Amino acid sequence: MSDSQKRIAGEAAALRVEAGMKVGLGTGSTAAWFVKALAARNLRDLRCVPTSDATADLARELGLTLSTLEDTPRLDLTVDGADEVGPGLALIKGGGAALLREKLVWEASDRCLVIADAAKVVKTLGAFPLPIEVVAFGHKTTGNRIADVLADHDIAMPARVRTAERGLVRTDGGNLIYDARCGAITDPSRLADDLKLITGVVEHGLFLDLADEAIIGTDDGVEVLVP
Ligand code: A5P
Repeated sequence: MSDSQKRIAGEAAALRVEAGMKVGLGTGSTAAWFVKALAARNLRDLRCVPTSDATADLARELGLTLSTLEDTPRLDLTVDGADEVGPGLALIKGGGAALLREKLVWEASDRCLVIADAAKVVKTLGAFPLPIEVVAFGHKTTGNRIADVLADHDIAMPARVRTAERGLVRTDGGNLIYDARCGAITDPSRLADDLKLITGVVEHGLFLDLADEAIIGTDDGVEVLVP
């Protein structure tokens, strides 16, 4: 993980934004570099929809004009980080527990640009634990159902509920996160479909066919990837 790689990816992405655009703001350390670089450009008439309370706080502090999906239902561009960038720009996201709002904002965007450091680029998704957002009510039952689906995909490890020092991690929407140590996800789209069918699963961190382009920060500058 390299902060300078994250920074140059975020700064390059900020140059893609034009005055008057409606922009989705991602969550995480890489997206934060983008938000800072975007604010520094001081573009006219930007309207920004943040994907988390943390990003909203940062953007507000930097003087960006914020909006919501209710008031701005269609966006020109969303820029966001990722935990893994796989072939065809299939992604794992949600390490920062913002996957649901991120996916809602991505799906409302005409273009989605992912920014990441070079270590995030992988040949097969799954080394990073896949975040799965579940409602708190009955979450252990939901966790058992997730384990059954994972077993059906030859993933032996059950998903674990995410905890921090203060107990269970809650998303901005009040839900819980289960992290699934998949190892290798051989059929991401079948896994995505199967997880969505479980009652109690709100969303999962597989972002498939959503990214239009990736800007990857390397020690020699940025590389652009397309699906
Ligand atoms: C937030 O929920 C995530 O999807 C982040 O975009 C992802 O975890 C990347 O975070 P970093 O940029 O901090 O590595």
